[in-house]
Amino acid sequence: MTHESKLARGLGLGGSATVLAALLVAGPALASNDNSSASNDSGSQNSHLAVTESDFGKTPQGQEVKRYQLTNRNGMSVDIITFGARIQSIKVPDKDGNVADVALGFDNVEGYIHKNQYMGATIGRYANRIANGQFTLDGHTYNLPKNNGPNTLHGGPEGFQQQVWQAKEIHPHGTVGVEMTYLSPDGQMGFPGDLVTTVRYTLDNDNDLRIHYSAVSDKDTVINLTNHTYFNLEGAGSGSILNEVAMINADKYSPIDKTEIPLGSARAVKGTPFDFTTPHTFGERIHAKTTQLMRAEPKQGGYDHNWVLDTNGNLDALAARVTDPKSGRELEVYTTEPGVQVYTSNFIHGKYEGKGGKTYHHWSAFTMETQHYPDSPNHPSYPTTELKAGKKFTSTTIFKFLPE
Ligand code: GAL
Repeated sequence: MTHESKLARGLGLGGSATVLAALLVAGPALASNDNSSASNDSGSQNSHLAVTESDFGKTPQGQEVKRYQLTNRNGMSVDIITFGARIQSIKVPDKDGNVADVALGFDNVEGYIHKNQYMGATIGRYANRIANGQFTLDGHTYNLPKNNGPNTLHGGPEGFQQQVWQAKEIHPHGTVGVEMTYLSPDGQMGFPGDLVTTVRYTLDNDNDLRIHYSAVSDKDTVINLTNHTYFNLEGAGSGSILNEVAMINADKYSPIDKTEIPLGSARAVKGTPFDFTTPHTFGERIHAKTTQLMRAEPKQGGYDHNWVLDTNGNLDALAARVTDPKSGRELEVYTTEPGVQVYTSNFIHGKYEGKGGKTYHHWSAFTMETQHYPDSPNHPSYPTTELKAGKKFTSTTIFKFLPE
């Protein structure tokens, strides 16, 4: 049986799923880093790279959830679960070799269902907001469920983050990883087309956690995928991120209205709290109570905006960097996407218990949601998020952790 027909069979559909799966596995974008057996790889590049699978529990409907742990020779490990294709943990050594988990999350499936906050999740079909839960494509108006005031957020209430993905371990050269696949049926959360999406997480010995997305639909549709990991480089649950130092390679950002929809044109960051073209701590200007900071969260404010990256989709160009002076840990972000939503966990209110009983609160984490701009289907001047029937969507983001 071919890989694509196995995939289609696993997805539980004949017909269009077979065709979509075939389109997804075909083509140079995947062929260049496609599956090759670990035992075929030679030399030190692959030493100490391993993947292990374990049980992570069950959904209330009885679906099994698996966890895949990727490890490298530097003592770094990344755990990914099949519920929402989520990053559940990222353990990284600091400058003295002490390991901490720098990703917020939960110890079990219940946490991800009941407390959620999109922790670590793959977000789809459309990351961030679509105004009034509506867009028009090929002359047809589509209505989506509204789950964020008047808007649709992160693909709707039953978006990708709530689905159980199929998974298999992969060993592309010099890396180790897991590939997760999900078939979203035509009309799910209001979006057109059967859509097969694959997310490949790989880790190498340079501490690069690479996320490669691909997707194919059998009808014209819109798509915007991201990962919603909350980072705290000192360690999840260790307190605020206000002393962590950020650099974002963007001269412009997207100002928002009261419901957090971009106003239209991007605005220059120069002279505003959004200027991270040179390094600044998150805390330096977060208290400024400017209109834009307060629109992100009306009580204490915060960052929750799209930065228009100056990287031109170049995966070799640094999009953002965050450094924690205390631990010496550093995160670098590289992406083919034109934007990044930086969100300082403003909506984590009160006492919020996460992994290991640790407490999370507002401003105790930041996200680096590489993406197309929010509400692009309603802004013809933005880079397009349309995906034509039968065409392959691809996107790559690298989270690189230092010290190696
Ligand atoms: C962000 C979004 C925030 C908030 C968060 C999840 O991507 O911009 O407004 O909804 O996700 O709580």
